[in-house]
Amino acid sequence: MSAKRRSWAEPFRIKMVELLKTTTREERERAIAEAGYNTFLLRSEDVYIDLLTDSGVSAMSDRQWAGMMLGDEAYAGSANFYHLRDTIEQCYSYKHTVPTHQGRGAEHLVSRLLIKPGDWVPGNMYFTTTRLHQELAGASFVDVIVDAAHDPADPSPFKGNVDLDKLDALVERVGAARIPYVSLATAVNMAGGQPVSMANLRELRAWCDRHRIPIVHDMTRVAENAYFVQQREPGYADRSVASIVHEICSLTDIATMSAKKDALVNIGGFLAMNDDDLYRRACDLVVVYEGLHTYGGLAGRDMEAMAIGIRESIDDHHIRARVGQVEYLGHKLMQAGVPIVQPIGGHAVFLDARRILPHLPQEQFPAQALAAALYVDAGVRAMERGAVSAGRNKDTGQNYMPKLELVRLTIPRRVYTQAHMDVVAESVIEVAEQARTIKGLRFSYEPEQLRFFLGRFEPLAD
Ligand code: F0G
Repeated sequence: MSAKRRSWAEPFRIKMVELLKTTTREERERAIAEAGYNTFLLRSEDVYIDLLTDSGVSAMSDRQWAGMMLGDEAYAGSANFYHLRDTIEQCYSYKHTVPTHQGRGAEHLVSRLLIKPGDWVPGNMYFTTTRLHQELAGASFVDVIVDAAHDPADPSPFKGNVDLDKLDALVERVGAARIPYVSLATAVNMAGGQPVSMANLRELRAWCDRHRIPIVHDMTRVAENAYFVQQREPGYADRSVASIVHEICSLTDIATMSAKKDALVNIGGFLAMNDDDLYRRACDLVVVYEGLHTYGGLAGRDMEAMAIGIRESIDDHHIRARVGQVEYLGHKLMQAGVPIVQPIGGHAVFLDARRILPHLPQEQFPAQALAAALYVDAGVRAMERGAVSAGRNKDTGQNYMPKLELVRLTIPRRVYTQAHMDVVAESVIEVAEQARTIKGLRFSYEPEQLRFFLGRFEPLAD
């Protein structure tokens, strides 16, 4: 019996449930107005199905919860740190680990360690916190992802790939000495969860070796990337996801991880690397901003849950069901003609707000407006990933106007059922049908940095 021809049903059963509150449409209209039309500012208890993010919202396994009881809460040298460190070396290949409270803690450290003011950091599409830490350290970010990534309708299988011609052009313009590293994300979040191919990664490795530039790997969703390699790249169909994950990591030099995604924990992250000297410098810095180098802002129990979660996250059955659920929702929406980013990503279905709301110019933040309307319809909370998230150019102060103006329906790992996905699909289809009634928004409060988190909006008059 070939497993591949069978459904992706979850490789777990449910042992405990969390009851959800239902609300009326009037209550939701009031809640979203009070939240300034920003889904980040809603109260969780006013949300029915929470697809804001896949970050820190996974259901842990019974083994992870049991691991929490094994927390060694020593200030220094906790046993859980060594378990975590060994797990990272075995599963991800990196020799040294510096725990951090979450992903951006690691981004902060690596940016300070490697960037000098005036540097240029190329990356396969920006991520909000990653780019901000690069900029705060004095660098300018340069997008070197393949053009296909900026076209939501392009069905190419590896839209996370790096365009090496763009890297060559950057070296020509600024010189390799001004490029401290290439910032490489696997399963590129802002592109719609799109993977990098092994072939592209090997070419990038060779390019970086030629120019003596290291690769900093944002491995937040590396297991999802590895799954797509297994499914789509010739020569990988018979390889385990775990072995592909290991190979991806071993082609890079340094890694930042938000363990709140792939690694199935509610809090935690790390910076990892192979270089001994860089590790020593990272230890010196982590004690300033996070905590001692053997806990980095985490409790011993958090590190234990992470070590167990890492192994569970690279299991073929787990990852197949995880991505399978995302694809289930995506296919339902495609069948109903709702425009979404192609191919369906690993962690989320991304709605193409430009095409759903053609009557709203990007200056009126169509994706922000669509996310608010979705919440009002059925209590489903999604997230804007378009002009609001992109922010302003740090030098000119002008709004970035990204080609992708998206609403992200992000699926937490091991939390919702197929019936929840059906409810979400029905709501999205209905809102898309009535899209003409959705009004544009303008900022009533715009924070200086990462404005999508705390920004407030008001609807424009007709
Ligand atoms: N890198 C990527 C690719 C991410 O998606 C995130 C977080 C981070 C780094 C930062 O990690 O949140 O642990 O500090 N993404 C979340 C999201 C917030 O909803 O996409 P963090």
